[in-house]
Amino acid sequence: MTTLPIYLFGNIELKTVAKKVVKLYPDDLQFIKNMFETMKNSNGIGLAANQVGVLKQILVIDISEHEDGEGVKPFVIINPVVKKQQGSWVMEEGCLSIPGIRADVERAEKISIKYLDELFNEHHKTFSGLLARVILHEIDHLNGILFIEHLTSKKRKELRSELINIKKGEVKINYSVVVSKQKLE
Ligand code: CO
Repeated sequence: MTTLPIYLFGNIELKTVAKKVVKLYPDDLQFIKNMFETMKNSNGIGLAANQVGVLKQILVIDISEHEDGEGVKPFVIINPVVKKQQGSWVMEEGCLSIPGIRADVERAEKISIKYLDELFNEHHKTFSGLLARVILHEIDHLNGILFIEHLTSKKRKELRSELINIKKGEVKINYSVVVSKQKLE
């Protein structure tokens, strides 16, 4: 297994909508294993393919180390479609692509989604609480949306200088990253 570098805020891949997976090749299965390894290595509870520069609708989840995730096995979600969202709650979120920044985000409390697993079997499942939140955060990634886009413009202004530092790669983290090549605005 290989640990993949995580793309930091500023990279265009994080602003791009990922494509549906039509068929899974052996390379894709290896890629999914690498995604799990990468997530574990960076202590993440979720990772979307965009975050490692691959524009495919694949995300991995592992909340087993979290207090609310005891006994929940890590799993992969391919081509997710949100069918239903209910309720709302606020929780502080962070993101491996935006290290050091945490902020309260309002999301649905309960979601019903349709997705494929690594064998391309279709599932229709309902998730709530932390799992629902992580899944929605990662589905946002597949749609080119970052959690900071859910914040008020006032809050985003407050974070501006920190975000610029991340764009420049001026962050202290213990996992390997890809810094944006884009020019700073
Ligand atoms: Co994220």
